[in-house]
Amino acid sequence: MSGPFESRWRDLAVRRLNIAPGQAVLEIGCGTGHGLIKLAEATGTAGRVYGVDLAAGMCRVARARVTRSGLMQASVIQGAAAALPCATGCFTAVFMSFTLELFGGAAAARVLSECRRVLGADGRLGVVSLERRGRDTLITRAYDWAGQRFPEWIDCHPIPVADLLSGNGFRPIDMIQGAIGGLPVAVVIAQKIGL
Ligand SMILES: C[S@@+](CC[C@H](N)C(=O)[O-])C[C@H]1O[C@@H](n2cnc3c(N)ncnc32)[C@H](O)[C@@H]1O
Repeated sequence: MSGPFESRWRDLAVRRLNIAPGQAVLEIGCGTGHGLIKLAEATGTAGRVYGVDLAAGMCRVARARVTRSGLMQASVIQGAAAALPCATGCFTAVFMSFTLELFGGAAAARVLSECRRVLGADGRLGVVSLERRGRDTLITRAYDWAGQRFPEWIDCHPIPVADLLSGNGFRPIDMIQGAIGGLPVAVVIAQKIGL
């Protein structure tokens, strides 16, 4: 249901990640695979794109979308963000769209540590996420209330995206802020620091 609102932000984030033909890219929480298609178009046939998702159903739908697209450079693997089924240092870029905000505190740190592990030196991370910033508004308060009352329906918790990345071994190099239906959203592109 939220697809039409989120796709504009997801596509913008893929563009700002500046993926070049031939690069290897991982999407964590690839969902139904819309982001994978954009990433695979950017890498071209010389590149490789892997989508990881915890949910078997999401993987099934994403695989079907990739097959229909004919973009043979993309594939989907079922797995967990906190223990990625990927070798160390094998990606140029990692992408997450409306996924990092599913993880709170220590779990988010664990996911970002996995992102660092699978990225090569100078690897880039692109995140698009609901953002916690500034003063609460009526809409953000209503969203927080709904998240506490109906956690099985509202499982995203807006996060201070750039600060979270800075605190977990990444240097933000590009940021765009906006809103979806009054809820703050941010695209942050960050560089891996160190090895
Ligand atoms: C809100 S959806 C976003 C999907 C997609 N990135 C998009 O922008 O449309 C979050 C996705 O993260 C996946 N997910 C949730 N927890 C996960 C975990 N621990 N490891 C990997 N994927 C996870 C869900 O199955 C879901 O597909």
